[in-house]
Amino acid sequence: MIRSLRLPLLLSLLLCGCKPFVLEPAPDWAYPTNPAPPPGQAAPVLTQGPFQIGTSKLSFTRPELTNLFSAPDWRPEDHPAMPEIVSHGRKPEVRACAYCHLPTGNGRPENARLAGLPVEYFVAQMKAFRDGTRASFVGGRAPTINMTNTAKAIQDEEILAAAKYFSALPPRSFVRVVESSQVPKSKIAGWLFKFDRQGGQESLGERILEGPEDFEQFELRDPATPYIAYVPEGSIALGKRLAETWGEQKELECSSCHGPGYRGKDAVPSIAGRSPTSVMRQLYDMKSGARHGGKSSEMDKVVKYMKNSDMLALAAYLGSLTP
Ligand code: HEC
Ligand code: HEC
Repeated sequence: MIRSLRLPLLLSLLLCGCKPFVLEPAPDWAYPTNPAPPPGQAAPVLTQGPFQIGTSKLSFTRPELTNLFSAPDWRPEDHPAMPEIVSHGRKPEVRACAYCHLPTGNGRPENARLAGLPVEYFVAQMKAFRDGTRASFVGGRAPTINMTNTAKAIQDEEILAAAKYFSALPPRSFVRVVESSQVPKSKIAGWLFKFDRQGGQESLGERILEGPEDFEQFELRDPATPYIAYVPEGSIALGKRLAETWGEQKELECSSCHGPGYRGKDAVPSIAGRSPTSVMRQLYDMKSGARHGGKSSEMDKVVKYMKNSDMLALAAYLGSLTP
């Protein structure tokens, strides 16, 4: 029965020239998940600080650096005063936005850059997290779970205060996109890849591996932490070509909606100079339907026939741009 159906299906696809919708398995490298500690093993004893970083006069202790209701702010002179909801959140469920997205709004690769996002888009995304129309394809990752719980507990006027604050900040990129076939070996920590510079090399294959250049600086939540994203050789040029020619008639080329330089237009967000793995997750989440709120229906036709390899190249190229 199934066999007899397959041939006409194949023929009709060939005759009408339609491409089939295929969802390839999720790229696990884009959704790195911290391993659970081995059972029975005591948690490592961590030093309590206070810690300092070179370019700040301030210091923070470990409990201060891990308090989700008070964002460490190393350089208050670098940004306007934060609204209370951004700096401290509201207990028990609304975590301080700047704890994860940082006081500068430039975020970290495991979450998202909020600086410069259009207010209208920002508000719509908060509502999509709240009503479940924006989720991650890979459930169970703490950063997205915390974000979703925050969105469920936040009030509309608090969303607006946060949206206005982040929207007015300048978007910046801290990621260096490097083409390479061999990369340092790594393990997953902090929801990213922690490279071991002394641990030898491995083959990158068809993946993007993104992580902080300096893991200590990352853990201290320094907004100036630089990141590196290793991408396959040739992917930046391929991504550029795809971005400029997407669609049967090139009508879906990315800048037609995302604006010149992909820096955003009206309520459509900027996609230039964003973390490549976060762009990869968004494209895959939209293609899989896990993210279908807001105006993501406009992206449906863009991602419909996108292969994982296309998404990878686009993520590498967009990540290499200046925001
Ligand atoms: C525990 C960390 C964490 C906290 C705290 C947090 N977020 Fe997020 N946020 C995330 C993550 C992770 C994502 C990406 C989720 C995804 O797409 O899977 C995100 C995404 C977003 C986005 C979507 C950005 C885009 O480009 O589409 C907005 C808007 C946002 N957060 C606003 C906020 C606001 C406002 C607050 C504070 C009230 C907040 N977040 C607190 C982790 C956090
Ligand atoms: C027809 C208009 C349109 C075209 C063409 C388009 N986009 Fe989009 N894109 C949107 C809209 C609208 C959104 C916001 C979706 C929402 O509200 O959730 C978006 C969102 C995105 C996001 C998520 C951004 C974030 O902050 O989370 C990514 C990544 C993205 N687009 C990539 C691309 C790429 C790559 C191309 C070209 C291959 C492209 N888009 C072409 C309209 C478009």
